[in-house]
Amino acid sequence: MSKPEKLLDKKGLRLDGRKLDELRPIKMEVGVLNNADGSAYLEQGKNKVLAAVYGPKEVHPKHLALADRAILRCRYHMAPFSVEERKSPAPSRREIELSKVIREALEPAVFLEYYPRTAIDIFIEILQADGGTRCAGITTAALALADAGVPMRDLVVACAAGKVDGKLALDLMDLEDKYGEADVPLAMMPGINAVTLLQMDGSLTLEEFQKAVKMAMEGCKQIYEMQKKALKAKYVAIKEEIQE
Ligand code: CDP
Repeated sequence: MSKPEKLLDKKGLRLDGRKLDELRPIKMEVGVLNNADGSAYLEQGKNKVLAAVYGPKEVHPKHLALADRAILRCRYHMAPFSVEERKSPAPSRREIELSKVIREALEPAVFLEYYPRTAIDIFIEILQADGGTRCAGITTAALALADAGVPMRDLVVACAAGKVDGKLALDLMDLEDKYGEADVPLAMMPGINAVTLLQMDGSLTLEEFQKAVKMAMEGCKQIYEMQKKALKAKYVAIKEEIQE
């Protein structure tokens, strides 16, 4: 899409009608795939993300196994039809980097030491992308890990804040990410107040950066409540099925 004239209207509302501190509409569902150990699906605005988890399981190739803990592997992948211009299905440099960044954001949460000599594999498929997919990928993967029964210190949740037309804004979508002044993706474990990912693209003053971090953390806390609800909803549905 071409560059819009303005990212904020006269009332200070964004292109999709949101206020500056407002998240995109979010939907989540846990346990959506039959053949993975854990799975989750998330929609955040126009982003559509699917995550699947396998493991803990035997490591192949065997020489990658660690004697004292499990290894966590992560693949972030964008479907060819997920973006405006068809993306090659082969992994791009960006996807390889994001796979690493996402793994590092999730790793501190997982009790890897409980499962020596095993692997936990996470697959994140971006079915539709509209900015902030690394964050949406982390939020979805954490749900899939929980669904697989992988013990974690806390759920990991991610959200970005940034700057558009001179104002700080929460949860940037693609056009704001592309044509805004800055983007600060952040992942955290809200239950123990630990940040596991913090990046910045663009430029901000120190004061703006601090405010953006605070804003992203507030966004994370809202999404965290939705994550817990989505996990509970799965078990309520199972209970109802048993009782029927
Ligand atoms: O998605 P995220 O903001 O975490 O990562 P990014 O590298 O900042 O990409 C921002 C957005 O650019 C993505 O969410 C997509 O909407 C878009 N994009 C695209 O249109 N084509 C690509 N090959 C890669 C990204």
